[in-house]
Amino acid sequence: MSVTVKDILAAKREGRRFAMLTAYDYPTARLVAEAEVPVILVGDSVGDNVLGYANTLPVTMDEMLHHARAVARGAPSLLLVGDMPFGAYQRSCEETVMHATAFLKAGMHAVKMEGGGWVAERVAHLTERSIPVMGHLGLTPQSVNAFGGMRVQGKTEESRQRILADAEALQAAGAFAVVLEGIPRDLAATITSTLAIPTIGIGAGPDCDGQVLILHDLLGISPHTRGGMPKFARAYDDIGDRIVAAARAYADDVREGRFPDDAHSYH
Ligand code: KIV
Repeated sequence: MSVTVKDILAAKREGRRFAMLTAYDYPTARLVAEAEVPVILVGDSVGDNVLGYANTLPVTMDEMLHHARAVARGAPSLLLVGDMPFGAYQRSCEETVMHATAFLKAGMHAVKMEGGGWVAERVAHLTERSIPVMGHLGLTPQSVNAFGGMRVQGKTEESRQRILADAEALQAAGAFAVVLEGIPRDLAATITSTLAIPTIGIGAGPDCDGQVLILHDLLGISPHTRGGMPKFARAYDDIGDRIVAAARAYADDVREGRFPDDAHSYH
């Protein structure tokens, strides 16, 4: 049975917490589905986690669609959310519709956009055209230059009020969920109890309706995990260390003539 936006709206109504994970390719999408995580975000975090960019800003629509198609082949029955990259929705509502449509044609079921205010207009434009939208507020990584770094948002009263008002505006525009990233726990709790749609937290404390983690942080293979994890993330494994050990063991075996052996040879 497929997971839909209705299911995660029902989860909020029924007080059931749920998890979302990022995935960027076919094998990890299959594994996330096998783990029964209901929602995959094909995040623009593919930029720093997989493509080697310094941040998410260089990621293009073409790159996102390439990864979205692979994920759609791996986990077609999960709720799949395509992350609109920087530059794909800033210019006009028309361009926003064009790029969101491309995501749905690539097998995504919804798109995500960062920001409040002007983004609410885009959300209404898409939802009126039957394209479900997830919002994203707080420490939105595409605003790294405007924020002057990756800084926790919502620390002043003015900023708290703006984020709360933006969350309400996104809901009024038709968003089916809102990611809350890098904001104080009590603000996330206030937004969660104010909204009828689910909040999905990352660095926003435990009181959100759902949580999202970057798969590569969870596995211990992201550039962050191997160079100092952000406070909000938890590595559930250290696959990075295990990959290094396996690759080293293989290279040692080749050097010492232990691999391939007779058992791995054709006769
Ligand atoms: O791109 C991404 O992975 C995200 C999450 C951090 C929510 O936007």
